[in-house]
Amino acid sequence: MNKEQCCVVSCEKPLDQEYWDAQYKAQATGWDLGEIAPPIKSYIDTLTNKDIAILIPGCGNSYEADYLLEKGFTNINVIDIAPTLVENLKQKFAANSNIKIILGDFFEHQGSYDLIIEQTFFCALPPTMRQKYVWKMHQLLAENGILAGLLFNRTFEVSPPFGGSKEEYENLFNGAFDFLKIDVAQNSIAPRANSELFFEFKKNAIEVHLYEFEGITCSGCMNTVTTKFEALNDVLNASMSTDFSEVLIVSEKEIPLKELQTIVSYDEKYKIKKI
Ligand SMILES: C[S@@+](CC[C@H](N)C(=O)[O-])C[C@H]1O[C@@H](n2cnc3c(N)ncnc32)[C@H](O)[C@@H]1O
Repeated sequence: MNKEQCCVVSCEKPLDQEYWDAQYKAQATGWDLGEIAPPIKSYIDTLTNKDIAILIPGCGNSYEADYLLEKGFTNINVIDIAPTLVENLKQKFAANSNIKIILGDFFEHQGSYDLIIEQTFFCALPPTMRQKYVWKMHQLLAENGILAGLLFNRTFEVSPPFGGSKEEYENLFNGAFDFLKIDVAQNSIAPRANSELFFEFKKNAIEVHLYEFEGITCSGCMNTVTTKFEALNDVLNASMSTDFSEVLIVSEKEIPLKELQTIVSYDEKYKIKKI
């Protein structure tokens, strides 16, 4: 089996709790490296404050957490949606007060973290959720918080994983985060050599809001709407999900919903509301 493929059930199925739990039950975890990814290990080695609040979303077997514990970090939080996996983690890390294991949906999670580590979570989500990912990461990070880890810079014939490119990620995160680093990782494991980017993004003190959108069915209309939003004085970046159902707006000041509704009122089909 191609190590980057993970479907044991049809990928047409929603990538929900049932899907991910089935992967763990079937031990079809082709993404699992069996160890911490070397670029993330190198990054952790640069961290000096061992008491920062760290979150690992879509944590899987959490090799990053093993390493953080080994290095003496005291506030590690891991979250995953798959109950079978989380039950195993609870046994594995039993009685260790430096790590909290959470069963749940990352997008419903509340908290405040200094560092969030990305390791094959972004690529496991349907690309329609990418705007929501940026919004939620920004929300969960404390002031000056860091989102760091690995993102694929390639595409895949079978998904998940869903790939992407440096340019796409820069457009997506633009404004909400300051790009401290985003480069091809130099010490990836051999099967992922030259196909992943190591990135370190700092949360910007800026308004990041997500809206539900209705009425768009083509990318031409999507571009018209996002261009109109981006023309507003305080807006740094506006982007729409690939299914046209959500808009992410990054701005110096929050734009009143009424103003956004007025902008799209030229087409009566268009409806926008805050999430
Ligand atoms: C491709 S796996 C990666 C696991 C781990 N990070 C690794 O690299 O081995 C994606 C993980 O994200 C979890 N996941 C998917 N959607 C999630 C969500 N909405 N909230 C929390 N975890 C989720 C899955 O259960 C799975 O463990």
